[in-house]
Amino acid sequence: MSYFYMLFFLAIGALMSFNRCHADPTDGFCLVPLTESNFELQKPYDTPLDQRYIYKNGAHKLWVYADDKPHNSYSHTQPRTEIRIKGLDYSSGVWQFEGCGFVPNGTSGATIAQIHGAAHGATTFILRIYDGDMRYYSRDLAATGMYDKWFRLNVIHDVDGGTVTVYIDGVQRFSTMDKGRGNGMYFKCGVYAAPANISYYMESMWRDIKIYKK
Ligand SMILES: *[C@@H]1O[C@H](CO)[C@@H](O)[C@H](O)[C@H]1NC(C)=O
Ligand SMILES: *[C@@H]1O[C@H](CO)[C@@H](O)[C@H](O)[C@H]1NC(C)=O
Repeated sequence: MSYFYMLFFLAIGALMSFNRCHADPTDGFCLVPLTESNFELQKPYDTPLDQRYIYKNGAHKLWVYADDKPHNSYSHTQPRTEIRIKGLDYSSGVWQFEGCGFVPNGTSGATIAQIHGAAHGATTFILRIYDGDMRYYSRDLAATGMYDKWFRLNVIHDVDGGTVTVYIDGVQRFSTMDKGRGNGMYFKCGVYAAPANISYYMESMWRDIKIYKK
């Protein structure tokens, strides 16, 4: 009899621990080791890096101003201070970006994460903050109330399936078709001014940046 009860409680315990370990976006993915050489910084070309970026207590802080210059003298793009994941450009497979991000109240009209490269257009995917809302480009709403808190962002790009899926704090918040297989696609995070409705000062912080693949 006691043996039966022991088995019974073991089974209940196993079920309870199973419930606690709910699904995570990184389940089934392999961590890709990163070194400093995988982090390339892009910033206004005429401004020293230390005036737009600091790395402190494990966090990358990136900021940019609306009237800053582009990242090089021949570009006509909007100003940016961004980390470009380098050395892991992809054109197939299933890739995942993970990072803990923080956007201060006041930063608006800023792309905080993107997948650069696509068959059609310059980018596959862009996540922007407007007035505390997180949007896909300037359109679809992915999340609200994003100011002044750390959040965990996971972005999965299934190139073969043609989809991009976004998780905030482990919960799926948005999914879309990608824009076709580009040669050399890569993840970025930081601040990149949107075409319109931008605040003068834009900032985001990032820590625990990881890349996974299947
Ligand atoms: C941002 O700051 C402004 C001015 O202090 C305040 O009125 C507003 O409620 C804040 N917004 C959020 C989303 O915290
Ligand atoms: C900028 O904001 C205005 C007013 O909210 C809106 O009508 C317009 O579509 C926005 N432009 C872009 C490019 O987001």
